Amino acid sequence: MDEARVACHRCGSLLDVSYDWDRLQPPNSLDFFESKWSRRDDPLCRSGVWRFRELLPFAPADKVVTLGEGQTLLHAADTVAKYIGLRAGRCHLQYEGLNPSGSFKDNGMTAAFTHAHFIGARRAACASTGNTSASLALYCGVSRLMRAVIFIGSGKISYGKLSQALDYGALTLQIAGDFDDAMRRVKEVCEKLGIYLVNSINPFRLEGQKTIMYRVLEALRWEVPDWIVVPGGNLGNSSAFGKAFAELRDLGLIDRMPRLAVINARGANTLCELYENRGLRWNDGQVDRAIVDRYAEELDATGRRASTIASAIEINRPVNLDKCLRALEICDGVVRDVTDQEILDAKAQVGTGGLGCEPASAASVAGAKRLCAEGVIAADDRVVCILTGHQLKDPTATVAYHTTDQEEFNRVLGSRGVRRAAFANRAVAVGNDLEEIVRVINLYS
Ligand code: F0G
Repeated sequence: MDEARVACHRCGSLLDVSYDWDRLQPPNSLDFFESKWSRRDDPLCRSGVWRFRELLPFAPADKVVTLGEGQTLLHAADTVAKYIGLRAGRCHLQYEGLNPSGSFKDNGMTAAFTHAHFIGARRAACASTGNTSASLALYCGVSRLMRAVIFIGSGKISYGKLSQALDYGALTLQIAGDFDDAMRRVKEVCEKLGIYLVNSINPFRLEGQKTIMYRVLEALRWEVPDWIVVPGGNLGNSSAFGKAFAELRDLGLIDRMPRLAVINARGANTLCELYENRGLRWNDGQVDRAIVDRYAEELDATGRRASTIASAIEINRPVNLDKCLRALEICDGVVRDVTDQEILDAKAQVGTGGLGCEPASAASVAGAKRLCAEGVIAADDRVVCILTGHQLKDPTATVAYHTTDQEEFNRVLGSRGVRRAAFANRAVAVGNDLEEIVRVINLYS
C-alpha cells in the first residue's frame, strides 16, 4: 500500500489487490448499500464508486479524492434491443458517459488517485488514447494535489479528449508513435523519474472500475444479468468486472455469475485472435507465454499497427491481457471483433435510442448484435452493454457518418473500410427563407 509499484519485482507480472476479508467487515447482503442513498451530503456516500467502499477497502476515508464520479445510469433501450435482436426490455445500456470527464475512466481514476495521494505523489502520468488522460487531467486540475503528465500518440486522439487535457492544464506530450509506443515510454519515464503511473496496469484503477458492475446490479435490484458486454482495449474494464463478480461470489453476495463478452475492433483484435483463434486461456494462472510472444513477434515482423475509427481501443498490446483471461474464465466469457462499419452503425442506433456514445463504446452493441445472430446470446437473455464514453468525445466520427459531403465521408470513414451510413440523419440545407423552411419542416416531420 505504501509504494507506487505496478509490477512484481520477481516475475514482472502485474499486481492484483487482494483483501483479507476475515479482518475486514464486508456486508452480508448487497442491500446494505441502499442505506447510503439517504446520506448524499457525505461525499463518500454520494460517489458511485465510494458508496461501495466496503468492497474496495484499501484507502482510509480521509485520503479519498472524489469528484462525485459514478453518478451513471442503466437505461433500458428498446430501440437498441430490437437492433441487437433482443426482446423488448432485455437490453440495458450502462451509460458511463455521465462521469465528470465523460467516460468510465473516472471510476478507476478516483481510486488510483486516492492511492497516489495516500503515498504522497506529486506527479502522476499516463499513456492514453484520450479518456484516461482527460480523467487524470481533471482530477489534477480540480484537486490541485498533483501535476498531470500525459503521453498521447500523435494524431491518435479525438479532439474532444485532446481539448480536455489541454483545457485542464495537463503537461501533454505528443509522442511520434501510437498508443502502444506511448505506453512503453510512459512506463520507462515513470520508473526513471519516480512519477506515479495511473494506467490500468495500476491495480487500484481496477478496484474503482469494479463499481461499474455494482451499479449495474444495484439498478437491477441486485439481480445478476445474463450477459455483460464490454469493449476491449487495454482490457482494464473486463479484468475489473471479472474480479468484481469473483469477489461477490466468494463473499456469498451473489448466487450466479453473468457471462462476459469482450468486443475488440477488427483493426485492434489481439485478444480475439489469441483467445478465439489460438486458444489462449488463463489456465489457472499458467498462461502460455509462447502463444503471446509468437503473436507479438508477428506484429513486429509485419509492422502491423492497430487501426480503427474507435480510437479509444486502437491498441494491439493490451497490458491487462492476463487478468482479462482470468475474467473470461470466471465469467465463461467469449470474445468477438467487429468492423468499423458495424461499430458506426451500432453507434447511430445507440444515438437514436437516446443516449449517444463514442465509437469504441458502440463496439459493445455491435458485438451483442453479432452474438445474437450467432445464437450465443438468446433473444430473451438480459444483456447489459457498457457504454464507456460520451457522444461528445469524438464529434468528427459522428459528423462524418451523418454528413452529406462525400469527400468528408471518404476522408474520415472510407479510409477505414466504412462504405455505407445506413442510419445517417442528414442535415437538410435550406435557404434563409421562411416559406422554404416551413415547406421543408412539413415535408420531413
Ligand atoms: N472505451 C473507451 C471509451 C475507452 O476510452 C477505452 C480505453 C476503452 C473502451 C477500453 O477499455 O482499456 O479497459 O479495455 N481507453 C484507454 C485510454 C486506453 O487511454 O483512455 P479497456
